[in-house]
Amino acid sequence: MDKLLITGGNTLQGELRICGAKNAALPILAASLLCSDSVKICNLPHLKDITTMIELFGSMGIRLLIDDKMNLEVCANTILHLSAPYHLVKTMRASILVLGPLLSHYGEAEVALPGGCAIGNRPVDLHIRGLEAMGANITIENGYIRAQAKKLHGAHIFMDSITVTGTENLMMAATLAEGTTIIENAAREPEIYDLANCLIKMGAKIKGHGTSTITITGVPRLHNTHYTVMPDRIEASTYLIAAAATRGKVKVKDVQPEYLEAVLLKLKEAGAVIRCGDNWVELDMQGKRPQAINIETAPYPAIATDVQAQFCALNAVAKGTSRIKETIFENRFMHCQEMQRMGADIHLEGNTAIIHGVESLNAAPVRATDLRASASLVIAGLVAKGTTEIDHIHHMDRGYACIEENIAMLGGSIQRISA
Ligand code: EPU
Repeated sequence: MDKLLITGGNTLQGELRICGAKNAALPILAASLLCSDSVKICNLPHLKDITTMIELFGSMGIRLLIDDKMNLEVCANTILHLSAPYHLVKTMRASILVLGPLLSHYGEAEVALPGGCAIGNRPVDLHIRGLEAMGANITIENGYIRAQAKKLHGAHIFMDSITVTGTENLMMAATLAEGTTIIENAAREPEIYDLANCLIKMGAKIKGHGTSTITITGVPRLHNTHYTVMPDRIEASTYLIAAAATRGKVKVKDVQPEYLEAVLLKLKEAGAVIRCGDNWVELDMQGKRPQAINIETAPYPAIATDVQAQFCALNAVAKGTSRIKETIFENRFMHCQEMQRMGADIHLEGNTAIIHGVESLNAAPVRATDLRASASLVIAGLVAKGTTEIDHIHHMDRGYACIEENIAMLGGSIQRISA
């Protein structure tokens, strides 16, 4: 298994380009299953989760054409198996996103039930209840969700809690249903907006995406299109937080600054000078140690749970004491125990981490427990004295393309070794 070696102490400086968003690319790939013609998807990030989705499509018999720029053409009409097997679902929970499109387009689907994962319990009951409200007959047997419906119909659905992939699954299913579906208490994440724009380009009738009430009027079929995936706001935030923690100056390019607002406000509070253009953001710490900042995660437009771990790393070396409250996932603090091994002064009280910033961390062997935890340990390694060894970095490869190359380009000392 690969490991990362990071020698701390360097200030990150320079510019880098941000990739397409993993959490927009995955539902957009799933949306291609709704189409009878081919769909061309551009700006896909080079990530393990994307290759897992491609592998899943391959296992269904779907013809895929990919060029050297990672533009992918999906021809879903060659599909043979309407099934997502456990061995793929267990490596990527987002495989659940094929449930709504397969059921809506082909009348049936079988998807392995994703179990719990490192960051929490993560049930999919709201996906299932929403599809049942649209007329699906769903059973759970032998660890599989089996869904059938001759034709889904429109429904008025109130989501009991805000779910990103749940909203996406129901929105996709509703595009080919008979009649109108209204999803209330829908998630408002920019990735949902991007998915809706792609579906609209395919001929879907959707209104209200980006708000908490989405209205979808079903159409008989969706047609071919090509679509460019939005930039990854979590990847951009991760590099900006790393720059702030190392007291550096970094410009991220090919981003949508409007989607980074909550993170940028927090980074300003930490002492960063921020400049934004149409599609870039520059952060400058002017060599200063960051100030500790309080964070509370919540659905968009608030601070995303996907940047909570990275802010923990920043606060670990900031001036002062901070509180970080995680309200989305019940077990997303495993990085804190690893940072404690590096000398971080972190104390957990329920869903809140209380962090007393220290001048610097000390290198230690640590273990990445999930995707964003691995990014936070990279940041911790960059601000630690000595060489930190991060194990289990396959988690990182699910969501960060070329992270070693990018960090090295910005002046960080980082090396991947194969064990
Ligand atoms: N929930 C339910 N029932 C459901 C669905 C969700 O109770 O049927 C609960 C979850 O247990 C959780 C909360 O609702 O407490 C929110 O979960 P959500 O469904 O929004 O998460 P998700 O859709 O499974 C997506 C991202 C995650 C991101 C979360 C929250 C994708 C592919 N994944 O997951 O991304 O953390 O939304 O924003 O879009 C990551 O990229 O590192 C990552 C984990």
